[in-house]
Amino acid sequence: MRYFSIIDDAALRAGAEALCAGELVAFPTETVYGLGADAFNALALAKVFEAKQRPRFDPLIVHIADLDSVERLADLSLLDAAARARFDTLAHALWPGPLTLILPKQRAVPELATSGLPTVALRFPQHDVALALIRAAGGAIAAPSANPFGYLSPTRAEHVREQLGEKVAVILDGGPCGIGVESSVLELVSDTPRILRPGGMPRERIEALIGAVELGAASTVTKPHSPGQLKSHYAPRTSLTLHSRAEMLELPWEPASAWLFFDGDTRNLWLRRRAITAGHDHGRIYTLSEHGNLAVAAAALFETLYKIDHAGASIIHTQRVPGAGLGNAINDRLERAAVGLSC
Ligand code: TXA
Ligand code: MG
Repeated sequence: MRYFSIIDDAALRAGAEALCAGELVAFPTETVYGLGADAFNALALAKVFEAKQRPRFDPLIVHIADLDSVERLADLSLLDAAARARFDTLAHALWPGPLTLILPKQRAVPELATSGLPTVALRFPQHDVALALIRAAGGAIAAPSANPFGYLSPTRAEHVREQLGEKVAVILDGGPCGIGVESSVLELVSDTPRILRPGGMPRERIEALIGAVELGAASTVTKPHSPGQLKSHYAPRTSLTLHSRAEMLELPWEPASAWLFFDGDTRNLWLRRRAITAGHDHGRIYTLSEHGNLAVAAAALFETLYKIDHAGASIIHTQRVPGAGLGNAINDRLERAAVGLSC
C-alpha cells in the first residue's frame, strides 16, 4: 500500500494509475473517505466488496467530476418530465455537494456497481482531491465509504489505514473530512422523490428547491432497500444507548461507561448535578460540539465514536441531537449504531 500525506501531482498520478489498473484507492471527500474503484471495471468493483466484506446486494455510489459525465452513467431519457426537471434543478443548485441522486442507469454501467438494480447512484463531490482524482482516472469512480461493512465510516485517512490497510493500493490523505456524515441519498425515479438516507445535504435545502420529499423505505423501483437503511449500519463495537437530553441528565455516573454529549452546556449541567468538575479527568466523557453546532457535531461524529470505541468502555451513553437539518442525519447514524453490529 502506498500512503500519500501530501497530495501533489505525483500522488494523484499514483492514485489514477492504480484505479486504471483495477486497484483500489482510498480518497477524501467532503463527507467521508471513499474506497474507490474504476466504475466501469467489474473486477475492480468486486475487489471493493471483497475488501469491505460487503454483501453483493449493496449498490455503490458512482462519483463524477462534471455534469457532462451524467449521461454516460444515467439514462435521463427514462425520467418523466417532472422528474427530469427535479434532476436539473438539484444538479445545478446542489452539485458539487453531499447529495447522491438515484437515476435510471445506462446499460454500460456494470451490474456489480448497482447490484443488479435498474438505477445508479450518482454523486458529484465537493472536494478538490476527489475531483482531481476522478478526472485523472477517467471520470467515474465507484466508491462506498472506506470502512469494513457495518463499521464506522472513516473521516480521516488514518482510519482507512487501520481498517483496510493492505487491501488498498493507494491512500490519499487529504486531512479530516469537513462534513463527516455521508451524503444524503435521494431517489428521483418515482413520482414522489424520497430520501433513502438522510445525510450531509439537509432535507430542508432539497425541499426548498423541489417541494416536499418523502423520507424512508425505498419504493418498489429501487428495491432491495438502500442498505444504508439496514438498522445495524454505522456501528461501533461498543454497545451504545441513545437518550433524550432530559434522560441523559438523569443518568447516574458509572465508571465503566462512556458518555457522549451533543453540547457543552448539557455536559456541564450533568457534571454539576453529579458534583463532578468539568475538565478534571473523569474518564470517558466526550462532546460532539462545545457550542451545540450541528455541522461541527456531524464533522466530529464518526471520529469521536471511533475514539470511544478504542477507549474500552462497556457501554456508550449518547445524547440525541436536535432533529433539524444535519441533526436528522446524526440521529439516524446514532440510531443505527444503537442497534449494534450484526456482521
Ligand atoms: O458520502 C457518501 O455518500 C460516501 C462518500 C465516499 O461519497 N459514500 C457512501 O457510500 O456513503 P456507501 O456505499 O457507504 O453508501 C451508499 C448508499 C447505500 O446506502 C446504498 O444502498 C445506496 O447509497 N445506494 C447506492 N445505489 C443505490 C441505488 N441504485 N438505489 C438505492 N440506493 C442506492
Ligand atoms: Mg458506508
